[in-house]
Order: sequence, then structure tokens, then C-alpha cells
Amino acid sequence: KRLAVFASGNGSNFHSITNAIKSGKVKAEICLVVCDRKDAYVLERARLENIQSFSFSAKNYSNKAEFEEEILTELQQRDVDLIILAGYMRLIGPTLLQEYPQSIVNIHPSLLPAFPGKDAVGQAFAAGVKETGVTIHYVDEGMDTGPIIVQKTVPILEGDTIDILQKRIQETEHDLYPSVLQQLCQQQLT
Ligand code: GRF
Repeated sequence: KRLAVFASGNGSNFHSITNAIKSGKVKAEICLVVCDRKDAYVLERARLENIQSFSFSAKNYSNKAEFEEEILTELQQRDVDLIILAGYMRLIGPTLLQEYPQSIVNIHPSLLPAFPGKDAVGQAFAAGVKETGVTIHYVDEGMDTGPIIVQKTVPILEGDTIDILQKRIQETEHDLYPSVLQQLCQQQLT
């Protein structure tokens, strides 16, 4: 498969996916990184990996369709067939959803449908639940609402701080995303 990774920030999930591709675990190629923040560290990571990137500022466009049309052109030029959201902090609009049906996946740091949206780890911590987790799902027009592909539970232990919990969740993400992509790229999951 030919992948595009969409991210807005640090890009640690992007990093774990590139490592899994380099080691041969995931049989895919990342053709493009799409980023909506010019100063995001994920862009530096892409440079270090010699992966092309397309970055943009939403404020330079009058609406979502306008910048998604540009993204679409970049994706089509590279024959991208699977879009991987990894910390991309925007809802995907109809322009991309129509062109990539069942072909956009997202990772979210909670057991959806619990704690959708921003700061899912903080929400779970504040709620005092005993476990939370990671969800990988197909993307639809809603916020963290598409069909679930896989979930993995992460315990919240006594004495945890948000930082400790965050780290435990991120470690889970860095294992889970590559292994789901491995299966998606071999078409074992539909
Ligand atoms: C991850 O926790 C992911 O679940 C959420 O955003 C975070 C991105 O982290 N959607 P990183 O940029 O991959 O380090």
C-alpha cells in the first residue's frame, strides 16, 4: 500500500510506523506527510526520513474544501491509497472522505466511544476510571466516531500521574498502530 500520514504535532506514531516499515514488518511505503502546522516536529522527522511533506495553514484558505482539494491533488499525484491519521487535529471533510471511502484510519487514546475529542487521556484520568486504552478506527464525518478496527486496554494504576498514563498509552499506540497497518496492508482486516 501507498500511505500518507496526516499529523499536527510531535509525530511519535509516524516514527513508529516508519521504523516498522524499515524493519520489513509493515509492507507499505509512506509517500507523503500532510501537516497543518508549519512548525510541527513531525515535519522535521519527515525530512530526516527523506519523506516528502505537504504543510499548510488553514487560515490561508476560506474553507476546509479549499485546502482538502490541494491535499487531494498531492495524494493523487503520488497514488496514495491509504490515509493514516496520527495526531491530526482536524476533522476530515467530504472532499477527502468521498475519494477515500473506508481508506482513512485514525488512532485515538481512549476506548471509544468513551472520551472522544481532545485530551482523551486527561478526560479518562479525571473520570477516575480503572482502565482506558487505545482505539484504531475508520474515519467518518464525525469526531472519533467511525467503525472500530481494534482496541487495546491500558490500565490506570494507583499512583499514576497523567504523564505516566500518557506514556503508557503512547507505548501501546506505538505497538498497536504498526501491527494494525501490517494487517491492513495485507488485507487481513476489512
Ligand atoms: C496520539 O496520542 C494519538 O492517539 C492522538 O494524538 C497523539 C499523537 O501523538 N490522536 P504523536 O504526534 O504521534 O506523538
